[in-house]
Amino acid sequence: MAKLTVAGIVFLCLALASATPNPNPGPAFRRGDEFPFIHVPLAHASDYASGKVHKSLMDAMTSAVDDIQKHLPSLHATGIEDPILDLPAITTLTRCEDGYAASGFANSTFMCNNADLHSFTPHRELGSEAQVGNDIWGWAHTDAEGVTREFALVGQMDGTAFAEVLADGTIAYLGRLPTQSVNSIWRDIKTIGHYAYIGSEAPGHGIQVFDLEKLLDPSLLDEPKEFSIETDLTGLYEGLPAGTSHNVVAHEDKNLIVAVGAMPRLDRCGAGLIFVDVSDPANPTTVGCAGEDGYVHDAQCLTYYGPDVAYNGSDVCYSFDEDTFTIFDITDPANPEVISATFYHGVAYAHQGWVFDNSNQEYLFHNDEMDEMFSRGWAVDQKTTTFIWDIRSLKEPKLTGHYKSPVKAIDHNLYVHNGFIYESNYNSGLRVVDARMVAEDPTGESFTEAAFFDVHPEDDEIGGSAVFGGTWSVYPYFESGYVLVNTLERGLFVLKLNL
Ligand SMILES: *[C@@H]1O[C@H](CO)[C@@H](O)[C@H](O)[C@H]1NC(C)=O
Ligand SMILES: *[C@@H]1O[C@H](CO)[C@@H](O)[C@H](O)[C@H]1NC(C)=O
Repeated sequence: MAKLTVAGIVFLCLALASATPNPNPGPAFRRGDEFPFIHVPLAHASDYASGKVHKSLMDAMTSAVDDIQKHLPSLHATGIEDPILDLPAITTLTRCEDGYAASGFANSTFMCNNADLHSFTPHRELGSEAQVGNDIWGWAHTDAEGVTREFALVGQMDGTAFAEVLADGTIAYLGRLPTQSVNSIWRDIKTIGHYAYIGSEAPGHGIQVFDLEKLLDPSLLDEPKEFSIETDLTGLYEGLPAGTSHNVVAHEDKNLIVAVGAMPRLDRCGAGLIFVDVSDPANPTTVGCAGEDGYVHDAQCLTYYGPDVAYNGSDVCYSFDEDTFTIFDITDPANPEVISATFYHGVAYAHQGWVFDNSNQEYLFHNDEMDEMFSRGWAVDQKTTTFIWDIRSLKEPKLTGHYKSPVKAIDHNLYVHNGFIYESNYNSGLRVVDARMVAEDPTGESFTEAAFFDVHPEDDEIGGSAVFGGTWSVYPYFESGYVLVNTLERGLFVLKLNL
């Protein structure tokens, strides 16, 4: 796996060699200057702007996935060929005892703390031929009698699998919605109300609109259904320049889906934020875009409630724009504005983040996807580094500190729930960080790891590894307390924490 890092470095050196003009000069930047630092980004600004840095990241991921797929047993093969990729479903509760959850299967004893495995379902049992996972989201439905059912929306290269999370934490596969065009490593799912919005880097894909109430049909429990990309969609958003997006973001209160990273960068929207009104899910319509800061990799968009009185009640996007943490005012999505764009210590690839408290937005946590890989800034030792921002001034957010995981791994998506950060840290799995004291200690020094479940035991003996594999994303918001973890190579883990 080390060759991936080498490949990444080679791509980056190529990127550094030829500078191209910046298509989106963007706003004036400021520094997250609580800490003195010399701003030495990983690559020249023009190589972020041209997409060379992002391409190197995607190439490294593609090479990791190619490696996984080389070992894939054919769907119709007989006998176990690869103990990892052929791991069978696990449907008995496997408690974390003395630091391990032992599934009883080869190569699948998982290091853990305060997290029990309620079930595991491999991608092939979630209907996938490609058998490589990516994003995950959840949806819950409460009927007139007050009975709640919870559903996992599981991203895979070739589509989205739908499964019910049953009361005991096992999974009932209900069916799947295939990709709208070709397969892609990148698929991203969000929900507003009872609709799922699904985007992908697959060319010509668009954003699928799927009515999740279709999953309530009890016959699916007996006979899973392959939904039709023609007749089972409520709508299809075809307004993306090339049909591709890197992520989809949901601003629920405003019925707004925000597509980010929709190529090309030279499009008038600059692969920034593209606002899609989904008040009528059958007819999603473009209402504006924000290309001012160029490419946006991921974002959280919500109504602002917090101490910055000038913006109270406005709509904002906290966005992660490769070389900056950028905040947009999107109150009028036809005329969005950059409030601030901020460099930070060790910036390599600003990837994704989430606010600590949606109803009082004072702090935010974010991850940089390339600082561990390239030993930048605080991540010099390659241990996963989470950045802590004081966002009490949206014009001048301040980097106040960081939290560092005890093990090496690249970080991917993180979400915050009840003061705990749920981090999907690729090869070190789910890492849950107690951040409840952030207002008292914004340096992060008193943050602690409250729980973890390492879905990728292959590198445990060497203290982890800053290469791609393991978990892509986590969904921590079910009332039942079940936490969904989707992984690249194995499948879907359903966990429950003992916090
Ligand atoms: C799987 O387990 C066997 C036996 O412990 C070990 O020899 C092998 O290296 C493991 N494979 C991987 C990919 O970790
Ligand atoms: C922001 O608005 C909310 C809701 O209108 C209000 O409760 C809160 O006090 C306001 N905050 C400030 C700092 O003005």
